[in-house]
Amino acid sequence: MLKLLTVIGARPQIIKAAALTRTIQKWNSSHCLEDRIAEVLLHTGQHYDDNMSGSFFKELGIPEPDINLHVGSGTHGVQTARMIEGIESALMGQNFDGVVLYGDTNSTLAGAVAAAKLHIPVFHIEAGLRSFNMSMPEEQNRIVCDRLSSVLFAPTQTAVDNLQNEGIGQGSMRFSAGKKQKVVLSGDVMYDNSMYFSSVAEEKSNILQCLGIESKNFILATIHRDNNTDSRERLSSIFSALLSVAQKQQQPVVLPLHPRTRKMLPMNLSEELYKTIISSPLIKITEPAGFFDIMMLERHASLVMTDSGGVQKEAFFFETPCVILRPEIEWVEIVDAGAGIIADADYNKICSAADSLIGQKVHFPQLFGNAHAAENILNEINAYLDN
Ligand code: UD1
Ligand code: UDP
Repeated sequence: MLKLLTVIGARPQIIKAAALTRTIQKWNSSHCLEDRIAEVLLHTGQHYDDNMSGSFFKELGIPEPDINLHVGSGTHGVQTARMIEGIESALMGQNFDGVVLYGDTNSTLAGAVAAAKLHIPVFHIEAGLRSFNMSMPEEQNRIVCDRLSSVLFAPTQTAVDNLQNEGIGQGSMRFSAGKKQKVVLSGDVMYDNSMYFSSVAEEKSNILQCLGIESKNFILATIHRDNNTDSRERLSSIFSALLSVAQKQQQPVVLPLHPRTRKMLPMNLSEELYKTIISSPLIKITEPAGFFDIMMLERHASLVMTDSGGVQKEAFFFETPCVILRPEIEWVEIVDAGAGIIADADYNKICSAADSLIGQKVHFPQLFGNAHAAENILNEINAYLDN
């Protein structure tokens, strides 16, 4: 029996993990005891509010974590150090065959460092993404994690190319038991989830009725990146632009607020802009949405405006165009396809990108696999550990 430790911590990782967990459950139901896979779920506690963590386990059918480190919020150093300590002690003496990590958060970095130092193979899902902006904490995390990983599951060809350009998976680096690092083009587990849950979401979510909005007659916005929330100039420019776009289009902007943004809004917007935003009938601020609700919002919006990697991609899966509130992106395919425009935090660029995307015919080629990424990943993990 193989024994894997899956490390999750932040909202998007809980969502991503659902696809592989579901696939492992399916595998186990059709294999005898000795060929089964034991997945132990470790939650670092990086996200802890029910609407940032607990609610997703129930909605996506993921078992409760076996271990919760309850690390909580903190500076990067403190938060990551506590996670490394906790993950190391969960791994020691427990005969894990591998550690599964997702994305690029501090939980990912901590898992990679703890596992690699104990010579336990790291399986990195969503490997090879690059913004080429080393001031992003996520870029630092993903580069370290990719370096330390035994098998790198790249969601797109661009991600494979990025790894190749850095010499990763070229055979020169040996890992424990003399094994070579391997890069696999697996497809995207988020695409698996969006396809798997989209009809359930249509059935179960009544978010459009609750908010009094109509399909294709509202805009969805999410903002949480530290370089946006923590800068007065950038946050003000983005919120002024959201207001202008809503007024010009006469469509409400639905804004499920990440707790980081909720905290920073009154601090980093002028009193006047803050009051205007929270009292405007065109800006509908909500708590962070559940997964079914956010899928409905992404699918039925006329436009998505976001600095989130995941929301950007899900908008693409559901064929909704997207204004990207960042200076650069990792998912360059979306921009190349003409389905997204990078507007950064520039008021004029945001307004003109929204103008040029709303109501326009946009193409959404199939770029993120065939919705069976998790099966590819599980087969590769089995093959790697069997050899
Ligand atoms: C983290 C990830 C980011 C990812 C995002 C997904 C890192 C470095 N950043 O950013 O890559 O895109 O998660 O959402 O790992 N907070 C709460 N309740 C919670 C969680 C957070 O109130 O349940 C507040 C706290 O004030 C905290 C702040 O949000 O200080 C930031 O949380 P943190 O996990 O440090 O980073 P995120 O901005 O969420
Ligand atoms: N998400 C959610 N509710 C929200 C906003 C986002 O469930 O209010 C989901 C979204 O569907 C996606 C993931 O969270 O699957 C993206 O996470 P987030 O935007 O926090 O981080 P990023 O993807 O940028 O790392």
